[in-house]
Amino acid sequence: MERFSVTTPIYYVNDVPHLGTAYTTIVADALRRFHCLRGDETFMLTGTDEHGLKIQRQAKEQGSDPKAFTDKISERFKEAWPKLDIVANRFVRTTDVDHEAFVIELWEKIEANGDLYEGEYEGWYCVGCESLKTDKELESGLCPLHKTSAERVKEKSYFFRLEKWQKVLLDFYARHPHFIQPESRRNEVVSFVESGLRDLSVSRTSFTWGIPVPGNPKHVMYVWFDALANYLSVLGQGSLVRFWPPNGKVVHLVGKDILRFHAVYWPAFLLSAGYTEKQIPQTVFAHGFLTIDGQKMGKALRNAVDPLKIARELGSDTLRYHLLRAIAFGQDGDFDHAALIERYNADLGKNLGNLLSRVLGLCQKVTGGKVPVQGARTALEEELFRSVVTNLTLARNGWESIEPHRALEATFAISSAANTYVDRAAPWASTPERAHTALATLLDVLAVLSVAIWPAMPNKSDAMRAQLGLPPIKPELGVDLFPTDIVGPFLMAGAPLRPAGPLFPTFDKDRTRDILETLIPKTVLVDTESGAKKAEADAKAESAENQFLGFDDFAKIDLRVGLVKAAEKVPKKDKLLRLTVDLGEPLPRTIVAGLALTFAPADLVGRKVLVVANLAPREFGSADFGAGKEKLVSQGMLLASGPSENLKLATIDGAALPGAKLK
Ligand code: MSP
Repeated sequence: MERFSVTTPIYYVNDVPHLGTAYTTIVADALRRFHCLRGDETFMLTGTDEHGLKIQRQAKEQGSDPKAFTDKISERFKEAWPKLDIVANRFVRTTDVDHEAFVIELWEKIEANGDLYEGEYEGWYCVGCESLKTDKELESGLCPLHKTSAERVKEKSYFFRLEKWQKVLLDFYARHPHFIQPESRRNEVVSFVESGLRDLSVSRTSFTWGIPVPGNPKHVMYVWFDALANYLSVLGQGSLVRFWPPNGKVVHLVGKDILRFHAVYWPAFLLSAGYTEKQIPQTVFAHGFLTIDGQKMGKALRNAVDPLKIARELGSDTLRYHLLRAIAFGQDGDFDHAALIERYNADLGKNLGNLLSRVLGLCQKVTGGKVPVQGARTALEEELFRSVVTNLTLARNGWESIEPHRALEATFAISSAANTYVDRAAPWASTPERAHTALATLLDVLAVLSVAIWPAMPNKSDAMRAQLGLPPIKPELGVDLFPTDIVGPFLMAGAPLRPAGPLFPTFDKDRTRDILETLIPKTVLVDTESGAKKAEADAKAESAENQFLGFDDFAKIDLRVGLVKAAEKVPKKDKLLRLTVDLGEPLPRTIVAGLALTFAPADLVGRKVLVVANLAPREFGSADFGAGKEKLVSQGMLLASGPSENLKLATIDGAALPGAKLK
């Protein structure tokens, strides 16, 4: 038995949970469950990252106090995960009192060790990444990840002596070849560190939403210093210290975009604060991105998929299985709703579900629905057993090495082998003794499969076991339940079976179409430059053919009722107002509009407006609202008529709700 803890990144509360953030959290939960099955003592940590400029701005845009804002969005994360059967032991928030107290202690230790000094920095900052960027990292001034322009910043700051730790880090990586995984990512980090480290700015003075620097409250701590410390502010305290290395094993799961923070800054902070090499987490595993048509899914590109909607429609197990199986953990994976349904039908319905129904159906005929007695094995059973044992070992190794896709591939290879065995053993055409042996063998394989799928599909595991007449899985400390062979019997001869219909009813064409219609967002956003160019070319070609707008084209325009929640003048831009508009979505939109010559901000708050909701986001340069330069991006367009000084807003009759569509 070991002590195993797994962490997810703590999520920024500028966004609500989406499939990308659900992905890491599902993997973490599946690993936790696998370790529970092994009899390990486990701990899963997740939470929200709530300080920093990005959050302060977002709260302001919504006319909210940062704490009230973070309370609201943090709750969305906390509520979402159980709906995906994710069971975390602690949901940490960086605004938690115990976390804040710990971060201050950590700062003081590092300061006492001489690794902090005051200075000034100047450079490009991407607020989306909450990170300084070198010229080389930017593409035509834009952050390649967020596609937004970096802001020029110059301010006083504390610096962490990162450069000093370069050699120590390189030695550490050499001595701990499995610290950074997968291997390709490790090589990237090693070359980055080899190329030289610069001291890191770890405080800000131009805004206030952060943990104040002890002894100098003009500064707030850099959000990443605060955030990384969450792992230790939870697992390094009280009796939970038993989980921290060297007493326990800690695995950090992170996206590839934040590997550097975890693999370079985090161990350097720990070493600097006086932790030894043995007290550094054993593994940082960087996974890839979930993409939609090749683009990273997320708020920046407004292409996020709602995992809860999929779970409501298809069950959380289906979503969990798909994400764990379809994407090689570590690599990017394009998400496609149709592929999700195809995989459901093929792997779950036709393979595993079908095996269960066939075997239980045959048992009904052969023994009247009771577990048959297993007789002598023949070469046919031996062959099946070999395949089961080989694949169980592969499945176990897959989970151990944080390769859920491999673990599940091997698990489902068992189900395929068992289906082949049913055809070959043909219990319907053999002697009663042979039929009993074949069916008893198959029931044992199903029992083994019901355990092996538990990390990915806990509900289906329970349902499958109920049909087999077995109780739900109950992991026990020190008891290894993950099967390594099928030296059963796992079911008592003569015990009743309880068939209860298909475990994974497959979806026919019509049902698939209905599901896809429910799941796929109706509006198609043109997010990228190439997308915009293509749309323009398509539009030109079409308009040459036909000078009228077809109904289908009109239907593409997503016109909606909006409610103005907040409005403010844009400094130094006479015509512009920045509005926060509720369109009935989880988060309101920011809309920049040329209304200022007609309306004072207060005239607009509380008014219903009509909005084109699926225009590509449009940039209006940048402005300083008091917390440094911010980019002005409009996420929609208001409808109005008249000259700039005498505009009339298009509006709607009666009590239409925000988000209502115009048709
Ligand atoms: N708050 C920081 C993490 C601090 S951890 C000490 C942060 N937050 S985030 O919300 O922007 O991102 C959290 C994680 O979600 C990152 O690992 C990021 O890679 C991941 N993902 C965000 N979008 C994703 C996809 N489309 N696909 C997969 N993971 C994605 O960074």
